[in-house]
Amino acid sequence: MRVAIIGTGYVGLTTGVCLAYMGHSVSCLDTDASKIQSLCSGQVPIYEPYLEELLEAARPNLRFTSSYSEAIPGAEVVFIAVGTPPTPSGAPNLEYLSQAARMIGEHINSEFTVVVNKSTVPIGSGNWVGSLLRESVEQRRDGSGGDFAVASNPEFLREGAALHDSLYPDRIVIGADEPRALEVLYSLYRPILDQTFQAPTFLPRPETVSAIPLVSTDLASAELIKYAANAFLALKISFINEIGLVSERVGANITEVARGIGLDSRIGSRFLNAGIGWGGSCFGKDTAALIATASEYGLHLPIVEAAKTVNSRQRDRVVEKLLAELKILKGRTVGLLGLAFKPNTDDLREAPAIEIAQKLIDRGVRVKAHDPIAIQRFEREHGDMGVTLCDEPHTVAEGCDALVLVTEWPEYRDLDWEVLAKKMRHPFLLDGRHALDREKLLRAGMQYVTIS
Ligand code: UGA
Repeated sequence: MRVAIIGTGYVGLTTGVCLAYMGHSVSCLDTDASKIQSLCSGQVPIYEPYLEELLEAARPNLRFTSSYSEAIPGAEVVFIAVGTPPTPSGAPNLEYLSQAARMIGEHINSEFTVVVNKSTVPIGSGNWVGSLLRESVEQRRDGSGGDFAVASNPEFLREGAALHDSLYPDRIVIGADEPRALEVLYSLYRPILDQTFQAPTFLPRPETVSAIPLVSTDLASAELIKYAANAFLALKISFINEIGLVSERVGANITEVARGIGLDSRIGSRFLNAGIGWGGSCFGKDTAALIATASEYGLHLPIVEAAKTVNSRQRDRVVEKLLAELKILKGRTVGLLGLAFKPNTDDLREAPAIEIAQKLIDRGVRVKAHDPIAIQRFEREHGDMGVTLCDEPHTVAEGCDALVLVTEWPEYRDLDWEVLAKKMRHPFLLDGRHALDREKLLRAGMQYVTIS
């Protein structure tokens, strides 16, 4: 099928590359010409494992362009995957979305086109995009019409595992009020739903994956599914962090507690890792947007609000733990291991490391930090914070009064902790992710504390 994708950010590019790999003919459009230029030469502007390799494999079916008149006419499906960054009120900025909708309306031809919201958009955006498209089609000077329907197809990709989540998803959700739009999307996703594509050697199909469930529903339900899924994941993490607080007081082990409840298949064991809490561009933004939407209807969402409150308390607990150990924070040096909001990405949006670093700096602490991937990005985006960036974890440890493991990069598990402990002024490690081996750390002469 002929597909156009507007926006080559993290979601748009992943979707475009995967659909092209399935054999569809895909045009990826971005108004940022420099991005298009680097994509044409095979360079991927974001850090996402295997994206460059899959792009290479799908290249015969992929085109990159900045021109709507090249990408849109004749496309059977047009995805809108532009950014919807949060505004200060918590509601997303829909400027790029509205621009994209108008431009699509100007360029679709008379063949039936399904316009799909892939960006995380507020509930009701499907209708709104539909009205913008209609308006734009009506204003055409040549009077030519456009036959289209709007659909929602939320994504559930995790950064760092985006291709795996696209090729082998737990489910695909499509929503539209017109059955023919759902039929088109069903055909588009058929190779993934039936798992009939040849799995790439670098992303083999897990043995447990066979047919993928499809949730084919109305527009509003599909839009709400996205928010409800992210809010539920966020509150699952906050729940275990709240239980962690009790666990610490009564002398229980939160990892054991999480395992004990997670093995109940009604609860499930994933997203029960206690620690400094969630970050990233999605959970914070989507919980805020859900709360904002509900309030438009006069509704209060105490559970979702509590998930946010508990999450921000986890950052304060880092400072409290350091204060309890070091007594005085002013003039101390604290090293952060990890800056990215999670491993396998260089994304720093709402990264706990930034909030923690700022809280410590505000209390007169000198902060040093290491990250295997995100250092350069941190320098570009947060270089003025006053954090000393180090190329090696060993350099971070030098002269530190405490180390905090903020991001559980796998390489941190195998560090020579004995050497690190010797380099520190005070060998104290606060494991913010329950990622390290307590016994190993203690043997290495490190005092080991977790946030549970
Ligand atoms: C999240 C969702 O998991 C995706 O399904 C969704 O598509 C995406 O948001 C989105 O809306 O775009 P992502 O933000 O990439 O994906 O990352 P997650 O793996 O969900 O992690 C989010 C944060 O939660 C990270 O800071 C992670 O360290 C933290 N986390 C995760 C925990 O603190 N404990 C856990 O048990 C799991």
